[in-house]
Amino acid sequence: VQRFDTADMAVLMKTGSEATTAALRIARRATGRRRVARAGYHGWHDWCLPLDSSVPAGLDTQVLEFNCNDAMSLQALFADHPGEIAAVILAPEMVLPPTPEAFLTLQDMTQRNGAVFILDEVKTAFRTAPGSVQARFGLKPDLTTVSKGLSNGWPIAAVVGRRDVMESAAGMHLSATYHGDTAAMAAALATLRIVEERSVADHVWALGQRLIDGLNAIARDLDVPASSYGEPFPPMPFLRFNHADPETNEVLLTAFYDAMLARGVLLHPRHMWFISHAHQAADIDMTLEHARSAMKEALECCKPSRTRHA
Ligand SMILES: Cc1ncc(COP(=O)(O)O)c(C=O)c1O
Repeated sequence: VQRFDTADMAVLMKTGSEATTAALRIARRATGRRRVARAGYHGWHDWCLPLDSSVPAGLDTQVLEFNCNDAMSLQALFADHPGEIAAVILAPEMVLPPTPEAFLTLQDMTQRNGAVFILDEVKTAFRTAPGSVQARFGLKPDLTTVSKGLSNGWPIAAVVGRRDVMESAAGMHLSATYHGDTAAMAAALATLRIVEERSVADHVWALGQRLIDGLNAIARDLDVPASSYGEPFPPMPFLRFNHADPETNEVLLTAFYDAMLARGVLLHPRHMWFISHAHQAADIDMTLEHARSAMKEALECCKPSRTRHA
C-alpha cells in the first residue's frame, strides 16, 4: 500500500487471476453495476474467455471487450450500455505506444462514466518503477492488481486501492484457504525492500535497453530482418523477426532461437522476456555475443530469400 499513492488498503491473494477477478467483484459492489470492460489478458478465469465453449454462455454480454489503442471503442461501450459498466480493467502492456496521454484518456473516460478504473499491473508492477506504471505516468487508478514482481517467485497477489472503493467489499466472500500464507507475505516484504534499496527498476530498465540496443545493432550489421523493442517497456524486451515471407520468417525465427538454446541461452520465441535483478551487464553482453553468432547461423538456413525485408 505504501508503494502506491492511490492505495489505502490491500487484500492479499495467491494469483494474478484471483486478484483481477476480485477487483471486478469489488468494482461491482462499489457501483451496483454488473457489466465490465476489458482489453487484455487478465488470467485464466471464465470471464477472461467469454466466448469459449468451455465457459458458461452469456459471459460475453457481461464482459465487454474494447481496443485500448482506440479510445473511441471504449466510448462506444459506455454509449451502448449507459450506467451499466462497473469497471474498466486495463493491463498497461497493451497500450501502444504507452504514453501518459493514452492512459489518461482511458482513465478519464472511465471515471467520467462512473466506472471503477482498474489498472492490472500484474506484469508491470515494481519492475517498471518502484511505484509501477501508474507512478511513471501519473495515473490514479481506483484499484490496482499486482503479483509476479511482488515476491520474486513466491505465490502472492494483491488488489490495492482507494479506501472508499475497497470498503465496498466489506462482507463480501473474498477469501481462500491459503490467502493467509505467511511465507509468501514475508517474501513479498523482502522483495519490496530489495526493489527499493537496490533500485531494481532502474537496473532492469537499463539492462533491458542494453539488450534491445545490442540486438538491433546486430540485426542491422548482419542485415537480418528483425527488430528488438520493449514490449512495451525495456525490462520486458523481445525480438521479432519480420521477413516479408511468413515461411522464411518462421525458419529464421526457429533457427535463431534453437541456435541460442544450443549456446545455453533460453529466450522465449513467442513471449516477451523479463530482465531480473540477478542479471548483470556481463550476462547481457554474453547473450549479445551468442546472438551475433546465432543470427549468422539462422541466416545460413534461409540464404536465398533473406534480403526481402518486410
Ligand atoms: C496482466 C496480467 N493479469 C493477470 C494475469 C494472471 O496472473 P496469473 O497467471 O498469476 O493468474 C497475468 C498473467 O500473465 C497478466 O499478465
